[in-house]
Amino acid sequence: MTSNEIRQKFLDFFEKRGHKIIPSTSLVPKDDASTLFISAGMQPLVPYLLGEKHPLGTRLANSQKCIRTGDIDDVGDNRHLTFFEMLGNWSLGDYFKDESIRWSFEFLTSKDEGLGLDKGRLYVTVFKGEGGIPRDDASVAVWKDVFDKNSLTSGVAGDDEMLKEETRIIPLGIDDNFWIAGATGPCGGDTEMFYDTKPELGPPAGKFSDLVNSFRFVEIWNNVFIEFNKTSDGKIEPLKQRSVDTGMGLERATAVVNGKDNVFDIDLFGGEQTREERIVADHVKAALFMIADGVKPENTGRGYVLRRLIRRAVRFSKDPLSNTVTRIKKIYEGVYKLDGGAEIENEERKFKETLDRGLKEFEKGTDPFVLFTTYGFPIELTEELAKERGIVIDRDDFDKKIIEHQKLSQTSSAGMFKGGLANTNEKTIKLHTAHHLLLSALQEVLGKDVKQKGSNITEERLRMDFSFDRKLTPEELKKTEEIVNFHIKADHNVTRREMPLIEAETLGAEMEFGAKYPEIVSLYFIEDKEGNAVSKEFCGGPHVSHTGELGFFSIIKEEAVSAGVRRIKAVLK
Ligand code: ALA
Repeated sequence: MTSNEIRQKFLDFFEKRGHKIIPSTSLVPKDDASTLFISAGMQPLVPYLLGEKHPLGTRLANSQKCIRTGDIDDVGDNRHLTFFEMLGNWSLGDYFKDESIRWSFEFLTSKDEGLGLDKGRLYVTVFKGEGGIPRDDASVAVWKDVFDKNSLTSGVAGDDEMLKEETRIIPLGIDDNFWIAGATGPCGGDTEMFYDTKPELGPPAGKFSDLVNSFRFVEIWNNVFIEFNKTSDGKIEPLKQRSVDTGMGLERATAVVNGKDNVFDIDLFGGEQTREERIVADHVKAALFMIADGVKPENTGRGYVLRRLIRRAVRFSKDPLSNTVTRIKKIYEGVYKLDGGAEIENEERKFKETLDRGLKEFEKGTDPFVLFTTYGFPIELTEELAKERGIVIDRDDFDKKIIEHQKLSQTSSAGMFKGGLANTNEKTIKLHTAHHLLLSALQEVLGKDVKQKGSNITEERLRMDFSFDRKLTPEELKKTEEIVNFHIKADHNVTRREMPLIEAETLGAEMEFGAKYPEIVSLYFIEDKEGNAVSKEFCGGPHVSHTGELGFFSIIKEEAVSAGVRRIKAVLK
């Protein structure tokens, strides 16, 4: 059965049972700052699981694009993936354990309507009760009834989780059978379905977790019975409505249905054999899907995850990534549009340059901190290289140096402008305001992705380091100067405002990456007469009160600092 057939069968099965089919949302969450990527089909549905009415009713199903980066070090084994599709069906205060469990069994085992899996090879876990929440006896009873009706054994394992000949139901605790998407939100006990991939070894026996860890049992479906909401103070409160949230990994289901013991041997991959090949295919696929949903390589947040995936793929790939890109695009032809090839190749080229330089330094025994700060060589790569060569890296030492480094750069920039320091005279104050105008002009000319990476101001000149991946053209430099001088001539007001950090963040004000800000922050706005902000930055000041005081702005130098970081020096005349 192809993955496309399985996806369609799933949707048809639940549509026939009163479910409305909803489209997959973007991988980038909407109105949800708690997560960088959608990692489960239920995430976009959280408001409805908490009680809001869904316009399409109380029964929904879909195939949701998901990204999980928590298991990135496991990718390369037979079942972990960064990008995967999750088939899910939901009851929003409608049916509960009984229908949910019976339909799951039916879909897994039915030959015409479902996957036609061998009933005798299914095993299930249920919530054994823990943390003041009772054991899920209702699910045990439904499973027992289902197994009995199908002439299967239906024994329930004890606290030792040992499988005996008749065991088919294994109660487990909070860590295994209580599900929540993150730290807070709708949650509840769950029942998980496993398939025995190696029946030729005889009836499975021994401890349940050993059967999973040895890859004999593969989890294929998880039905969560949502009854609670976990609040930010850690309380688990009962919800008025009881819901069902299920998730089945399409890739795992396809593997299991086709008798494969690994997810790379299905039609959504190319039969990658080695760990390295699997990592490359997995990461390039995830990168293509992220880019298709609007993510760009950056040094923070989502963009950093993307950058890291591409860089890891480069590290593990023997060939140019374009080969893998082409293969993956072809696999998803007609299902998903994946146009991120050029973006990936650009990032690959830049990273190879960084790598060549960094590798040379690594071989010389250069300190990981210097490799990172001077050569842009990621600590994760230093660690991987070191591991390959049996060298031990002192990660604590690296982390300590990084923290000191950040503190130092913060004190020096704070010291530059605060408390009557020698440099706080008229000239540096003017250059400081010009610095804000320069950043906003660079973003206008080169794109919003340009971020400040460092700054230094003396009486003579300002210096700004910023993220950008190539030399600026003379036209771009000229345009930047013109924009700054335009805003100087316009004599804009410069205003300081204090506000809660959260409000400042919502305004999208420029902030320093990695800096820890207090709850109330100070922002500087440069605004035209209509009150439109030309610039808004987290900043302690001081600044001039009108840009007209600055005089004439001129760039004197533009150069590279490190991979992806440029430096501009400029003066006021
Ligand atoms: N939300 C559940 C999961 O992701 C179904 O496993």
